[in-house]
Amino acid sequence: MKQNYHVLGAKQFEREQLEELFDAAKAMEGVVKRGGDRRHEGRIMTSLFFEASTRTRLSFESAMHRLGGGVIGTENAAQFSSAIKGETLEDTIRIISGYSDVIVMRHTDIGAAKRAAKVSSIPVINAGDGAGEHPTQALLDAYTIRKELGRIDGLHIAMVGDLAYGRTVHSLSYILANYQDVVVHYISPDNVRIPENVKQYMDEKGIRYAESNDLDSVAGSIDVLYQTRIQKERFPSLDEYEKAAGQFIVDAELMDRMRKDSVVLHPLPRLGEITEEVDSDPRAAYFRQAVNGLYIRMALIDKCITESQGK
Ligand code: CP
Repeated sequence: MKQNYHVLGAKQFEREQLEELFDAAKAMEGVVKRGGDRRHEGRIMTSLFFEASTRTRLSFESAMHRLGGGVIGTENAAQFSSAIKGETLEDTIRIISGYSDVIVMRHTDIGAAKRAAKVSSIPVINAGDGAGEHPTQALLDAYTIRKELGRIDGLHIAMVGDLAYGRTVHSLSYILANYQDVVVHYISPDNVRIPENVKQYMDEKGIRYAESNDLDSVAGSIDVLYQTRIQKERFPSLDEYEKAAGQFIVDAELMDRMRKDSVVLHPLPRLGEITEEVDSDPRAAYFRQAVNGLYIRMALIDKCITESQGK
């Protein structure tokens, strides 16, 4: 990690570090099989979530427990921390820095994790900052792709759905930019296209990509279909949301047209954009992907705490 021991955005990861992290995650699979270990006994992780979460919060908390550490925190920090009394994010982080060894934070505002890191004396891990980034999700996504297909280089990956507000696709794009001959197809409704700053980064890194609103024309040739939810909670109006909703559905008919050696991923939760009939298809990797989040997050916690403690 270039930016010392914080995990703030996906751009901070270079290929060598990704490979090291994926190897560490693989080793964590063995740790979990053996019932966990005690390597971080006596250490404490703060789980500070200002936005709702199932997978990210619980997999981080499970990860810390699997490594022998303790967990404190709140899943509704906007209401149940002193933020509701007007305490600034910076003061909240200064206080938590004195109580624990690593902070995992999800916040409503883009850039909140960077603000937290500026005043924190312990590692901050960005668990999602509004419509900005979700780097740990992208790391587990890339780990899943490598595990399912054996490589990332040379793959054709379609990111589908809400590419404007969907922070996971921003972070995943930055991670994929480390790999050779990757081609990204950004497929979205017209009002939630991939942001210009993400395309600019891909241009700078020489990554080939195409933008369209036509999933059917690429379905038969892609290696990875990365479906996303249309994020109703982030739209400026219901009208705009309704323009975007329901345009791209992964169902049995679409799966019939996809290659036998492809995979379907989704950061989850889903709201019908992948029909349940797809779940039994061996190419449906999204529940395996969610489990991989545990291993990646164990590896990240281990790295952040070890590096920050100078072990
Ligand atoms: N993928 C993801 O971030 O899920 P949660 O919102 O449930 O954490």
